[in-house]
Amino acid sequence: MPASSSLRLIVADRDEASRQAADLLAGVLRTESPVLGLATGSSVEAVYEELAILVSGDPELQSGVSRAQAFALDEYIGLPPDDANSYRATLLRQFAEPVGLAPDHLHLPSPQAVAAAYDDEIARAGGIRLQLLGIGSNGHIGFNEPGSLLNSRTRLVDLDERTRRDNARFFGALDAVPMQAITQGIGTILNAATLVVLAFGSAKAEALTAAILGPVTPDLPASALQHHPDVIVLADEEASRMLRPGG
Ligand code: GLP
Repeated sequence: MPASSSLRLIVADRDEASRQAADLLAGVLRTESPVLGLATGSSVEAVYEELAILVSGDPELQSGVSRAQAFALDEYIGLPPDDANSYRATLLRQFAEPVGLAPDHLHLPSPQAVAAAYDDEIARAGGIRLQLLGIGSNGHIGFNEPGSLLNSRTRLVDLDERTRRDNARFFGALDAVPMQAITQGIGTILNAATLVVLAFGSAKAEALTAAILGPVTPDLPASALQHHPDVIVLADEEASRMLRPGG
């Protein structure tokens, strides 16, 4: 039995799941102090495209964007900020520009600052209302690799070989993938009011199943989701096949 009974699984194809996630973000943008938690990676790209469409036709959402603060989950160490693969550059390109967020409202954990200062910055903004998440094929969330403490805070981490191999597709070569990153900790992520997890494709099936049905363990960081009171998982048929009857 999962430790939390408040995890909701919605099975939908990538387009529909992305629209639903964009609607949830839009709901936060309609509040007085919208604080969003952003992820990077292929699982969330279409969410930002859908949100940009929603915002372009809705003055109330545009006003929400002008009030919004957005906090990234993680950032590579060792890439110049303007490198196209840095998460700052990626989120400026995929989120801030299309949605209309001012660049100074986009925050990333930075190696220049003491890592834990990022948690304070999030708290000062009022806390993250909705945190988007992908899931690594090794069960990571953010860049919290297997072995991460479930109460960890924002910190510098070494990347797993499997994560570096998975992400090599963005860099063209494994050698070009950084060895380290700075990531919100698992404890930091669990502080967000609502978590929205996107998982697509059969490569995510094992990790997603273990995260939801397996024991809560540092060996599978995403299993910590079971300790959160409000989690929505949007997954396609392939990623959720072991979670469905007959799957
Ligand atoms: C990456 C990122 C995560 C992301 C996850 C899944 O390494 N650090 O924040 O959610 O792994 O990536 P993707 O959506 O590309 O499969």
